[in-house]
Amino acid sequence: MGRTENDTWDLASSVGATATMVAAGRARATRAALIDDPFAEPLVRAVGIDFFVRWASGELRSDDVDLPDAPWGMQRMTDQQAARTRYIDAFFAAAQHDGTPAGIRQVIILASGLDTRGYRLPWARGTKVFEIDVPQVVEFKTTALATLGALPRADVRGVAVDLRDDWPSALRQAGFRADLPTAWAAEGLFGYLPPDAQDRLLDHITALSADGSRLIAEVFFSAAASRELFSAIYQRWYQHGLDVALESLGFPGERNDVATYLEERGWQVVRTPLNQLLVDNGFAPAPAGPAAPDTPFAENYYCTAVLRRQAATP
Ligand SMILES: C[S@@+](CC[C@H](N)C(=O)[O-])C[C@H]1O[C@@H](n2cnc3c(N)ncnc32)[C@H](O)[C@@H]1O
Repeated sequence: MGRTENDTWDLASSVGATATMVAAGRARATRAALIDDPFAEPLVRAVGIDFFVRWASGELRSDDVDLPDAPWGMQRMTDQQAARTRYIDAFFAAAQHDGTPAGIRQVIILASGLDTRGYRLPWARGTKVFEIDVPQVVEFKTTALATLGALPRADVRGVAVDLRDDWPSALRQAGFRADLPTAWAAEGLFGYLPPDAQDRLLDHITALSADGSRLIAEVFFSAAASRELFSAIYQRWYQHGLDVALESLGFPGERNDVATYLEERGWQVVRTPLNQLLVDNGFAPAPAGPAAPDTPFAENYYCTAVLRRQAATP
């Protein structure tokens, strides 16, 4: 079944299950010593989707679950998590030491899912990390991490709200201050928002961002031609016991290009293709271009941006 305007989910259903899938990727990448997210595997176990637990724990092999030579699958997804986790971790480290006397001490993780940066990165003293996701996701992760004895390494505040609703009010109520510079991350989010909600989200981010704020966003492109390939990949996963439908979780329709939209609103933007990130991290790039029209995510890019509100003085 496709998405609807006011649909809801937990971490074992609908778009929530994608948070568990990418956490399984981080768990597997942690096992391979590519990244270090010690909470990923316990969190995937706590959610309990057996297929993802078996991937996270190393029980399933790529040969078992991936289509031979397919440009996407559990191993590719895992490589992508390793590369993007490193990249976004480095973005936050740079934002904390951005050359200003104070550095950025206010962090917003949009669509936080099972993200554990608040518990594993060495945040500077006084940093607040706001994690925004839907109520069932925020509540589950917060409780599961407490049960695991995980200690926050910043002042971590869950903000349980749907990003299609009035999330800026919820964020303010949680203690957010629009007069301070902010570092924002939107990782694995945009495809799951309706196109107009994506624009509204970027408008709110811009309105809430003080001078010098920074943003990192992952921008998805899933070519129509890749639908059949996705279907074949998921069939394989279903044969291995996955019991959550992963088709049709995105919202269809034309959408504005994130980087262009931000540039038009005063952000200085740098685009980094996913393929460049993969190669920089020692992984094979996804086949791209006219010869490979059905490769999912080959055109994905990461957008890093800084908002400069004050004109430079001569
Ligand atoms: C692919 S997961 C990414 C999770 C996390 N950013 C990561 O990379 O591990 C997608 C996440 O987006 C969240 N999400 C999607 N649509 C949302 C919405 N309208 N409001 C709040 N969260 C949303 C889901 O709950 C899920 O946690």
